[in-house]
Amino acid sequence: NAQTNRLIINADQGDVTINKHIYGHFAEHLGTGIYGGIWVGKDSDIANQDGYRSDVLQALIDLEIPNLRWPGGCFADEYHWTDGIGEDRPTMVNTHWGGVTEDNSFGTHEFLDLCEKIGTVPYITGNVGSGSVDEMSKWIEYINFDGISPMAKLREKNGRSEPWNIEYWGVGNESWGCGGNMTPEYYANEYRRYATFARNYGGNKLFKIAGGANDWDFRWTEVLMRDIPLNMMDGISLHYYTIPGTWEKKQSATDFTKKQFLETLIKAGRMDELLVKHGTIMDKFDPNKKVKLIIDEWGTWFEATPGSNPGFLQQQNTLRDALVAGITLNVFNKHAERVHMANLAQTVNVLQAIILTEGDQMLLTPTYHVFDLYKPHKDAKLVPHHLTSEKFKIDELETEALHVSTSRSEDGMLNISIVNINPDKEINLDCVLRGIKGKRITGQVVTTDAMDAYNTFDNKNRIGIEEFKNFNLKGDNLQVKVPSKSVLMLRVAE
Ligand code: AHR
Repeated sequence: NAQTNRLIINADQGDVTINKHIYGHFAEHLGTGIYGGIWVGKDSDIANQDGYRSDVLQALIDLEIPNLRWPGGCFADEYHWTDGIGEDRPTMVNTHWGGVTEDNSFGTHEFLDLCEKIGTVPYITGNVGSGSVDEMSKWIEYINFDGISPMAKLREKNGRSEPWNIEYWGVGNESWGCGGNMTPEYYANEYRRYATFARNYGGNKLFKIAGGANDWDFRWTEVLMRDIPLNMMDGISLHYYTIPGTWEKKQSATDFTKKQFLETLIKAGRMDELLVKHGTIMDKFDPNKKVKLIIDEWGTWFEATPGSNPGFLQQQNTLRDALVAGITLNVFNKHAERVHMANLAQTVNVLQAIILTEGDQMLLTPTYHVFDLYKPHKDAKLVPHHLTSEKFKIDELETEALHVSTSRSEDGMLNISIVNINPDKEINLDCVLRGIKGKRITGQVVTTDAMDAYNTFDNKNRIGIEEFKNFNLKGDNLQVKVPSKSVLMLRVAE
């Protein structure tokens, strides 16, 4: 193949930091995402700490997840927080997700205590669709007020005297759909009203996030940016799911052709186009990028695992999902100036999960390993690069094989993440390292022999992180043999 694959990195340039919150997660009251997946209750036979599964806690601690979004999703707009505090908790029907009975045993205290246990920052989405301004306002008072007030007293009565002082607050979810089927004009007005009474207490300042657009709905972003004063919001969200085939007829998570594999990865890469387009609209109203983009739902969405409750959105996670994660995280890094936070949907047992459980068993998915691999990018400085990648074709689908992101950690290490989406071909990549005198280099990779391979409870480590050494560093020239269908992280030290 005469095509050259070239990567030029200017390691001493760049002034944008990749916010660690781009590597965030999302846990909704959906299927076994919370119940069974995170929370089993103190009396469970499954090993737990105060009701939280010990294995899942440890996996989340090890991954150093920066934030966790809760309680939904669509569930957020039918959730009444007062049902989930204190001794007597009424039940409700989770109408969005399988019509199951929600017993409210996992509520505000359980969520915020979980965040403390795993050392992560909470991000709560309030109910605009079926709630009230008063209800949301009191929830914030309950969580954050440090003084004498009815809500602070109630909190204390329920066992917590100190406020949690949380910052990230979402004002509704998908208000164009499950959150109330509103028009953008109507929602913008509602946002202004709800946000007015979402108070700051003490020195704590809320980071208020307006419920943003669904993927290609640019009008939604435009109207919100036009109608909501910039000083009333800190972020605006965006949801984009990678769905090969169509929404109505989803494809299998594990049984797919090479063409479907490629279709999926091309669709994942369209996140870049989305961020450019929504970002351009935001630039028009907010050239200084004061309002941040929060991609608080992203990931693959396939047909539910055969035999499972379709309302539980449970799916397996193959090497293909790992590649989707690698591509998407590279794109988020690229747009770090505008993108402040992102949340993969969803943490345990739901959609592109990082963890799957079955009874007392737990496994880490290939997607978990990509988040682990990409840790060095968190809070690192984005450094510019120029990539020339060969293209490849499957039937009429044609695309570039390589996707790259480059950053520099505080300790001076240069981080290069590379995704090769060609399922059949190892690629020789020629890198020029400018602005760094590379002396030592280490590599790690997530890959395996089959594009549809996944971890099972019988074989939990089929896909993990392995050491990678197929490179050669000479002066400022670095040659890398990037394996087919792989996600790679190289770290170069001076
Ligand atoms: O993540 C599953 C669902 O997808 C969320 O509840 C909703 O916000 C989106 O439509």
